Amino acid sequence: MAQFETQVGIVGAGPSGLMLSQLLHLAGIHSIVLEVRSRHYCEGRVRAGVLEHTSVTMLRNAGVGQRLDREGLQHAGIEIGIQGVLHRIPFEELTGKCVTVYGQQEVVKDLIARRLADGGDLRFECGEVSLENIEQGRPLIRVRKDGVEDEVHCDFIAGCDGYHGVARPSIPSQALNVYERLYPFAWLGILAEAAPSREELVYMHHERGFALYSMRSPHITRLYLQCKPDEDIAEWSDDRIWSELNARLSCEDGWRPTEGKILQKGVTGMRSFVVEPLQYGQLFLAGDAAHIVPPTGAKGMNLAFADVHYLARALRARYEENKDEGLDAYSATCLKRVWRAQRFSWWMTSLLHRFEHEPAFDRKRQLAELEYLTSSRAAAMSLAENYVGLPLEGA
Ligand code: APR
Ligand code: PHB
Repeated sequence: MAQFETQVGIVGAGPSGLMLSQLLHLAGIHSIVLEVRSRHYCEGRVRAGVLEHTSVTMLRNAGVGQRLDREGLQHAGIEIGIQGVLHRIPFEELTGKCVTVYGQQEVVKDLIARRLADGGDLRFECGEVSLENIEQGRPLIRVRKDGVEDEVHCDFIAGCDGYHGVARPSIPSQALNVYERLYPFAWLGILAEAAPSREELVYMHHERGFALYSMRSPHITRLYLQCKPDEDIAEWSDDRIWSELNARLSCEDGWRPTEGKILQKGVTGMRSFVVEPLQYGQLFLAGDAAHIVPPTGAKGMNLAFADVHYLARALRARYEENKDEGLDAYSATCLKRVWRAQRFSWWMTSLLHRFEHEPAFDRKRQLAELEYLTSSRAAAMSLAENYVGLPLEGA
């Protein structure tokens, strides 16, 4: 058995764990990141791809903005489609801000490279992780692999291990309130070798179900189809996928997505989920470990970054000035933003998807809301300010 010492033990090397470890490093605080998967797996996992301007600033300030600035695609708006007719929501004109399209896996690659170049302690394929003494005393993370047990002793633990991680279940269930909503659909997502043929993302409401046209680079498009929650991907041949994408995305003006080789496909479930509070003793939850949003509002990675921004700031005040106010307020500070993002993501999801068994009244109301959104500057402004990202408190 080996024993290790650190100030902050971080469980999980996704966007939240990696960014936290980088922000702490810049503040002179030592951390060890424990990740169950391989580096290759973490860097290859295809996830979300839209960064709010606050996330872009955070990445730049953290010293990981170079490739993002070179390769990220700045978008000054999105298009909302209703049955093949497109309406633009001009973010920059309405809010003065843009978003940047840059894949989460690229963010993860950049953060891993930076941490390793700076001598950061990232442990991939670390084995089975369990947390001890989180309520009082000095917490420790126990790691078991191939019959060998290591102990990482820390002042604080950050649970950045996503929805299926061990951090949240380490908290007694009676200490947490869980708020959850499931949706009666999922997204079938593909990555295609095809040059984007539209400048901006298209969120299409269609009788056959929602479809999203997105992209990753000047050569790669990312597309999604609303599907059944238990959709079997094996039933979706490439031809069937393109035919359905064409049926839903083809526009009145003659545009339809350019087809190409499908590089990757998968089904992503949809849920809204929050636990409160985000702290238990010396354990702090961040990112998907604490909350999940449906992907329609493109908020997942951005919320994860906001959490660790507040957590790093609070830990810095703790170590530099011996002040605990930031840590004490961490949960409440994050939850304010989390609930705003939850509301927005739920609203975008409810607005754009087809709800098969809804009463006729709700269908009519939904169409009226889409019509309102695409014809009122005030309604477009509300979408725009939430999509580009609300300002960080006290930043
Ligand atoms: N021990 C160590 N690591 C773990 C464990 C465990 N028991 N369980 C899970 N992990 C790792 C996962 O392998 C993953 O690499 O924790 C990491 C969590 O990363 P994410 O799920 O990406 O969560 P987070 O960093 O909070 O980022 C949130 O991810 O799911 C997207 O849309 C979401 O963009 C958002 C972002
Ligand atoms: C993506 O490009 O993967 C993407 C874009 C916008 C979303 C969700 C996902 O709302």
